[in-house]
Amino acid sequence: MDAYETVFSSRREAEAFYGGFLENGWISAAWKDSGLVGVLTWMPREAAKHGLAEIIDFWVKAEERRKGVGGRLLDHAIAKMRQYYQDFNSKLRRVMLFTGASKRYLAARKLYEKKGFQISATIPPDRLDNPRYKEFLYVLQI
Ligand SMILES: CC(C)(COP(=O)(O)OP(=O)(O)OC[C@H]1O[C@@H](n2cnc3c(N)ncnc32)[C@H](O)[C@@H]1OP(=O)(O)O)[C@@H](O)C(=O)NCCC(=O)NCCS
Repeated sequence: MDAYETVFSSRREAEAFYGGFLENGWISAAWKDSGLVGVLTWMPREAAKHGLAEIIDFWVKAEERRKGVGGRLLDHAIAKMRQYYQDFNSKLRRVMLFTGASKRYLAARKLYEKKGFQISATIPPDRLDNPRYKEFLYVLQI
C-alpha cells in the first residue's frame, strides 16, 4: 500500500479502494526480488451475463518498463477475467478501459492497441476525472 499513499489521500482510502480487488482476486501483480513492480486491477461491469469487464488501474514501475511485464500482466488479467465469467456460466465478451489522450499515456495506448483494443469513444476534458486532457474509451472485443 505504500506506493499508493502518494496517489490516495491516506492509507485508509487506498486500503478501502484496493480491498475489494484483493478480496475478489480482481488483481494481477508482478514481483521482482520480492518487490512489487507492476499491478493491474479490473472489475466486472455489473452482471456476468453482460460479459463486460473494465480495467481500472494498470502500471509498471518505471525501471521495469519495456521488458514485457505490462504485456504479461494484461494477458494474465484477461485469463482471470475469462475464468470469472466462466465460473458464472457466462463468457467474457469485451474489456473496456479509459486512458488519457496525452503523451503521458502513449506507452499504455500503444500496448492496448498492440493487444487489439480499439478506441470506441473520445471523452472531452473535464467530463470524467481528467480536468485538462481528453480521454479515450478503449474496447477489446474478445
Ligand atoms: C503502460 C505500461 C503499464 C506498459 O508496461 P511495460 O511493462 O512497459 O509494457 P511492455 O514492456 O509489456 O510493452 C509491450 C508493448 O507496448 C508498447 N509500448 C510499451 N511502452 C512503450 C513506449 N514507451 N513507447 C511505445 N510503445 C510502447 C510496445 O508495443 C511494447 O512492445 P515492444 O517492447 O515489443 O515494442 C507502463 O508503460 C506504465 O506503467 N505506464 C505508466 C502508467 C500508465 O500509463 N498506465 C496506464 C493507465 S490507463
